[in-house]
Amino acid sequence: MSDAGGCSVTDIGSISLDIMDRLDRLAEITETPGYLTRRCYTPEHRAANDLAAEWMRAAGMEVWQDAVGNMMGRYEGKTPGAPAILLGSHLDTVIRAGKYDGGLGVLSAIDCVKSLNERGVRYDNAIEVACFADEEGVRYQSTFLGSRGLAGTFDTGLLDRPDKDGITLAQAMTEFGLDPAKIGEAARKPDEIRCYLEVHIEQGPVLEAEDLSTCAVTAIAGANRMTVSVTGDAGHAGTVPMSARQDALTAASECILAVESAAARHEHAVGTVGQITASPGATNVIPGQAEFSVDFRAADDAVRRQAVDELITAFDAIAEKRGVTLKIDHSHAANGMTCAPELVDTIEAALTDLGQHPFRLPSGAGHDAAALAEITDVGMIFVRCDRGISHSPEESITAEDAIAGATLLLRTVERLGTTNT
Ligand code: GLV
Ligand code: MN
Ligand code: MN
Repeated sequence: MSDAGGCSVTDIGSISLDIMDRLDRLAEITETPGYLTRRCYTPEHRAANDLAAEWMRAAGMEVWQDAVGNMMGRYEGKTPGAPAILLGSHLDTVIRAGKYDGGLGVLSAIDCVKSLNERGVRYDNAIEVACFADEEGVRYQSTFLGSRGLAGTFDTGLLDRPDKDGITLAQAMTEFGLDPAKIGEAARKPDEIRCYLEVHIEQGPVLEAEDLSTCAVTAIAGANRMTVSVTGDAGHAGTVPMSARQDALTAASECILAVESAAARHEHAVGTVGQITASPGATNVIPGQAEFSVDFRAADDAVRRQAVDELITAFDAIAEKRGVTLKIDHSHAANGMTCAPELVDTIEAALTDLGQHPFRLPSGAGHDAAALAEITDVGMIFVRCDRGISHSPEESITAEDAIAGATLLLRTVERLGTTNT
């Protein structure tokens, strides 16, 4: 037994072994039979919220859905209404997702409360769990719709944005049973939240290489997303000479290579084009229209802004050279953030309590914690995943590592719960 920070390790409860079964059950809720896709404000999102609500109630929480569609649970503190230690992650997924991105954080949070409830442990702080509605931004190209709603930074300018089927965000929210005019009611006051903690798979290969199951996260990289529409001239593939073409798809292709080279030129920057469409889309027609997405990230915000500026200059030059026009929709921008040093220290102390080697990593992936950092201190725990693969059905973790992540969260909460600030 150790007694670090006045908090005995023998206090620790245990995490249930059903976390992997629950992740499997959650992954059965999919829009696309055969593989996992769960975008925000779909019937599948509703079903996932309902299942999480059932688990949260069974874990001893009072449950409600907030005005932006986050499913929330609260395990009251010793004094009703006390500020909460907020735990959570997201229930939406990418297309052809893995089972653990988001789901692991939600289920670790629920199991943590379940363990406290089973032992009758209450702290001065309440514990809340947030199952966020949208972190991936797959449907509306702007990430953190749920966590920004809770942080009070939801951009209502997005409400008119259509998804790929022409359903606007406002319509999707209304069909989901929400009132877009009331989104502001999801916002929590900073003094209601003591801090936010999130467990997430690493989505990278470092923990595996280090032979570690979990670690603390130090920072989350910033990101920009854009949708670029290129308009050229459609024409006959057999008759229009090469010198007379305004081919929107070849112009888009050159722009895509510019994304790759901008990322390569800047330190710790990554650029991805994950979507492209061309129309009219026939073998023997020169594409008159093309549209592609850009996801650009960097560890340093100034580097990212500089790289994105350079990218736009390069796009304009390519458009001019090729006689096409460009429209750029800047759909998302998020600055990088730093996890609260005290929480990083607490997570490392909890790792030490559990006999694990303390270790820390920055995150290249975005997380709801980045949105929460606008209103409270945030801390994150990474869990090892197989070969670092994520955003893929190949995503895989072991039951032991899932339990290690949830146990580390529980230990961190126990440390915070017994030391009030
Ligand atoms: C979310 O997973 C992101 O980083 O895109
Ligand atoms: Mn995620
Ligand atoms: Mn993700």
